[in-house]
Amino acid sequence: MNLAEVIAIRKLIKDYGNLRAVDGIDLSIQKGEVYAFLGPNGAGKTTTVEILEGLRPRTSGEVEVLGLDPWKDNKKLIRQLGVIPQDFKFFDKITPKEAVAFYAGLFGKRADADAILKKVRLEDKASDRYETLSGGQKQKMGLALALVNEPAVLFLDEPTTGLDPQARRSIWEVIRSLRSEGRTVFLTTHYLEEAQLLADRVAIINHGKIVATGSPEDIIREHGRSEVLSLQAPPKLADYLRSKLDLPVRAEDHTVDVELNSNEDVLRVLTLVQQSGIPWTGVSTRQDTLEDVFIRLVGKTTESGDVGPASLGGAK
Ligand SMILES: Nc1ncnc2c1ncn2[C@@H]1O[C@H](COP(=O)(O)OP(=O)(O)O)[C@@H](O)[C@H]1O
Ligand SMILES: [Mg+2]
Repeated sequence: MNLAEVIAIRKLIKDYGNLRAVDGIDLSIQKGEVYAFLGPNGAGKTTTVEILEGLRPRTSGEVEVLGLDPWKDNKKLIRQLGVIPQDFKFFDKITPKEAVAFYAGLFGKRADADAILKKVRLEDKASDRYETLSGGQKQKMGLALALVNEPAVLFLDEPTTGLDPQARRSIWEVIRSLRSEGRTVFLTTHYLEEAQLLADRVAIINHGKIVATGSPEDIIREHGRSEVLSLQAPPKLADYLRSKLDLPVRAEDHTVDVELNSNEDVLRVLTLVQQSGIPWTGVSTRQDTLEDVFIRLVGKTTESGDVGPASLGGAK
């Protein structure tokens, strides 16, 4: 483990009976990163997080969090972690301020509830009952509780699932401020937008295997298709271009797409379009998004009934 490495996972396997939920994953997460574990439902995200938190034993492989084995050194580790489980819930009648005091008591810590609630932008609701809070405010209370320990590492399992886009953004803001304090945040999500806009690095997991890692830009560069020049024109233009070019050309409805290898290809294609004499009405270029790459790697797109754009699976 290098000094800045906060989480190290090597060849991690977790079986539930005959089901291999986590299938030999390797990950290295550095201090101060927001790291997103992105994948559809059932991919193995929660299982992995619970192993990292010391809540579940692993079948095999090596895991270290802050230099400790989460299963063997659980007591020592738990005091340095902040955790929000998937589907976090609390007692209806308790206020955020009382909840923070209650948690601090559990850990034998002195906590400045007002300061913590301010940090998660919940100071206005400090004395409101949990049951009256919005979904986003409830998650912020979860974050407040996770901060009681002054944790070096936070594990947030789907912290924004089911929240509206505005509430989601306000949670991201809090997570960014935690990063700026030097804390490491490991979160799971099935929202592509969340991975793309919030995370420094992302691992895409599917069926217990990691299929891509890196910054969103790295992943797009490595797994994305080349840039595409798109023309609004009749399909006969595609036939013409195919006869003159060695580049992949696709035609659909009134759109002709040409995959580019280099910038010079733009000029070659446009010159040929001009020579063809076929009328066209619009031209643009486009590059794969993280969503395009995800769909290619995981073979799935947004499932119905889910909240928000660019999401990959329903909340459990
Ligand atoms: N306690 C358990 N016992 C048996 N199977 C489980 C258990 N927890 C999860 N699984 C299965 O393991 C796989 C991974 O689940 P999970 O880690 O919850 O994925 P995710 O959080 O990505 O949705 C799923 O197929 C799930 O049904
Ligand atoms: Mg889960």
